[in-house]
Amino acid sequence: MKLHNLIRKWAVSYTNAGKYSPIGVWFHWIMAALVLFQLWVGWIMTRRPVGGDKLDAYELHSEIGLSILLLAILRFGWRLFIPDPINDADAPGWQSKAAHLTHYLFYGLFALLPLSGWAMWSAIQPVEPLRLAGIVPIPPMPFHTLSPGWQYRVLDWAEWLHVLGVIGLAALVPLHVGAALKHHFWDRDDTVIGILPEIQDDPEAPDHRQYNPTGV
Ligand code: HEM
Ligand code: HEM
Repeated sequence: MKLHNLIRKWAVSYTNAGKYSPIGVWFHWIMAALVLFQLWVGWIMTRRPVGGDKLDAYELHSEIGLSILLLAILRFGWRLFIPDPINDADAPGWQSKAAHLTHYLFYGLFALLPLSGWAMWSAIQPVEPLRLAGIVPIPPMPFHTLSPGWQYRVLDWAEWLHVLGVIGLAALVPLHVGAALKHHFWDRDDTVIGILPEIQDDPEAPDHRQYNPTGV
């Protein structure tokens, strides 16, 4: 069997059981952590007094932001290759439609935010190149050929789009997390279990009940 068929078979064995595959699960949690970190760094860096610290924060912000773009492309490719599991969250009705719309909007924001950030950097012609994950140099978008007036306009539009994206994320994340918690604690269904890493029962592990001091 070809490698991609093997990988698909492995992943589909999870999605058929109503769970995301471990690759889907890790994409979700690594990106969720990076996106929250990114919102926090973005917020504090713009409010810091001018100085070395501020520049370092801008650099970190751009490096992580570009990594989010790469991860989002890989994750979207993975999602096209392996469809989502069908679970209790897919019950017909407006809630599942809203959930799917939120997921697509997230993907849109994962592209809009880094691209507008990259455009901002490119419009101010950075002295240092941008680096993906702090390692791979990324060239600026070709705005240096524009007149200073147009460069200013690009910067202004890109900044506006970036802030729009931030507002979108800040609105969608609490809705998404709130809906997940409602599924788990109110409806008590399998939605959140589906995106959590699987904790395997180790058959070799000693039976902890033998340590029960009451002996029951
Ligand atoms: C998912 C990815 C990203 C998120 C969630 C994010 C989030 C943020 C936030 C919360 C702010 C502060 C907005 C404000 O309070 O005015 C900000 C500003 C900024 N971000 Fe990002 N960002 C992302 C990606 C990027 C990337 C990849 C770059 C550059 C390559 C970048 C460059 C900037 C710059 C230059 C600012 C300052 C804008 C200003 O001074 O108004 N961002 N970002
Ligand atoms: C910045 C934070 C987060 C972002 C951007 C985010 C984004 C996403 C996206 C795009 C999906 C669609 C699945 C995929 O394409 O991989 C998803 C699914 C999911 N997320 Fe999040 N997520 C975040 C945080 C959380 C948190 C904190 C929780 C739990 C409390 C959570 C619970 C879920 C659940 C349960 C699903 C599966 C929904 C279903 O089966 O229909 N997410 N998330």
